[in-house]
Amino acid sequence: GDNVLYLAHRHGIDLEGACEASLACSTCHVYVNADYYDKLPTPEEREDDMLDMAPMLQENSRLGCQII
Ligand code: FES
Repeated sequence: GDNVLYLAHRHGIDLEGACEASLACSTCHVYVNADYYDKLPTPEEREDDMLDMAPMLQENSRLGCQII
């Protein structure tokens, strides 16, 4: 699918995605610009659980593979 992780790869941006978007890692962690963060649906519990393990967590943190 066209999530942010795949879009990044297609555009040559070096974002990891160790679990191939199956919500089993936090290597696709990204910071979302505040203007866009509020437009996204709130993360599901499984994403939140994985985000908790991401280093340098911020208010605007999301998992790239879950942003579509
Ligand atoms: Fe593993 Fe996004 S690639 S949760």
